[in-house]
Amino acid sequence: MTIVVRPTADDVAAIAADEIMRTAEAAIEERGAFHWAISGGSTPGAIYQNLAANVGFRGLVPVVHLYWVDDRTVPPTHVDSNVRLAMETLIEPARFARDNVHPPISDAADLEAETQRYEEILRKRLPAGVNSMPCFDLITLGLGGDGHTASLFPDTSALKETKRAWVVNDVPQLRARRLTLTFPVLSAARSLAFVVTGSGKACVVADILLPRPHTPPPPAAIAAQSNANVTWFLDEGAAEEMGRT
Ligand code: 6PG
Repeated sequence: MTIVVRPTADDVAAIAADEIMRTAEAAIEERGAFHWAISGGSTPGAIYQNLAANVGFRGLVPVVHLYWVDDRTVPPTHVDSNVRLAMETLIEPARFARDNVHPPISDAADLEAETQRYEEILRKRLPAGVNSMPCFDLITLGLGGDGHTASLFPDTSALKETKRAWVVNDVPQLRARRLTLTFPVLSAARSLAFVVTGSGKACVVADILLPRPHTPPPPAAIAAQSNANVTWFLDEGAAEEMGRT
């Protein structure tokens, strides 16, 4: 595990974008394409804008394939849509071709059928990794104050999933349904990158990276512990509890 700390959220967006670029170049060099699962929320937009403005990254776009880590069950035009976030900050500005963008249909009438459809796409397009799970080159993740990552929230059913790659998750604490990748997929990925900014996340970051004995790990800790190639990108606010004893 690697921990990268930079002064500000903008510095974190820049260094994370550089690292994504390096990971993409290595994947394309070795396998001819870069399969990347992207998150939503308020943190990654700056990274996507950074990459979309990068001429080198735009040169890679023809062999970069985008998938979603999770989404809210809303139309892609909705303000809360993770598909919309990526369309506006990355896909349209970087001129991704439609064939390289693989969004879920998050407002499908039959969400269970939709998760089957999306799972088939992941299993068809991605090489099989550990436990025959679809293997991404990179999955970029955020972190919620409650320790959730993707839409793997504490005490929700998706935490127990061991066979499926993509599921519907009922999240009572949000009174909402989410679509999300599961722990086995996060574990099978070639690399995971957590991007976390703001002092509001400092306690949960320290709970994960400096776990106290006899304390149950939050979902993000379980994800991080399941993969041998994890990088944490933190700003000084999110890292401010890392000195605690
Ligand atoms: C989502 C995300 C989720 C997010 C965290 C952190 O759809 O909300 O994928 O896992 O990464 O909730 O969100 P912020 O970046 O807004 O703090």
